[in-house]
Amino acid sequence: MKQTFDTEEAIKRWNKFADIYASKHFEQGDLHKEIFLNPTLFTLMGKIEKKNVLDAGCGEGYLSRLISKEGAVVTAVDYSPRMLEIAKSRTENEQMIEYKHGNLEHLNIFEDKCFDIIISNMVVQDLENYESAFQEMYRLLEDGGNLIFSILHPCFVTPGSGWEKTENGEKLYWKVDKYFYEGVYEQALGDEEKMLFFHRTLTTYINTLIKTGFTIESIVEPKPSNKMLEKYPSFEEDYRCADFIVFKLKK
Ligand SMILES: C[S@@+](CC[C@H](N)C(=O)[O-])C[C@H]1O[C@@H](n2cnc3c(N)ncnc32)[C@H](O)[C@@H]1O
Repeated sequence: MKQTFDTEEAIKRWNKFADIYASKHFEQGDLHKEIFLNPTLFTLMGKIEKKNVLDAGCGEGYLSRLISKEGAVVTAVDYSPRMLEIAKSRTENEQMIEYKHGNLEHLNIFEDKCFDIIISNMVVQDLENYESAFQEMYRLLEDGGNLIFSILHPCFVTPGSGWEKTENGEKLYWKVDKYFYEGVYEQALGDEEKMLFFHRTLTTYINTLIKTGFTIESIVEPKPSNKMLEKYPSFEEDYRCADFIVFKLKK
């Protein structure tokens, strides 16, 4: 039987992978989140005390917990029931994070204009129908509200990208392939389960966001700070090419 690579299949895989994924996430998430994404996301969010924030695709919930510690009122949504179970089990009662089960592509569980900020960390490349997810996020934001989302950098992380190495394993250069091949591809995370990713070009992302009605306020290609390099020197190699890109948009 031919396999269908769609949202339901993608979520089935995330659900199966949830326990392994969560076992690699701690207070600051994993190393990539600590070094690259958290400093960028919190700088872009600014002061969030008392703001209504939606964590869209919360996973095991480390970011919801960090945002809640900053005094925001946090709602967190994910389509994987197991991820939500783990997120709830990792949340202290007094943190008051409201967890919801839902598909980002159809968020009719929420009313229009109910959030000041939507944050979506490393999720949009997992969505088959990212256009409808952007439309839903736009609908849920207050006028003037911000969507901040991070994804794998679509110019460098493509189907077929990876380090080209010598026989001894020395990294020669990062190879990019199939940039204009938009669509679904399978990617193993470590030695584990193969996940489904949906590749789109940078142009497609930017034009879709503009068509949805968003204004681009800022784009960041995160790299390790000097402080982070002192703590984790091996991440110097991330000055060779960008793994992530983060967008801040305004409704
Ligand atoms: C790479 S993980 C990121 C999790 C979390 N944001 C973090 O930074 O640790 C991707 C998450 O997106 C969720 N996800 C994928 N497709 C989704 C969809 N259509 N609707 C809601 N959540 C989805 C997965 O279940 C998974 O928890």
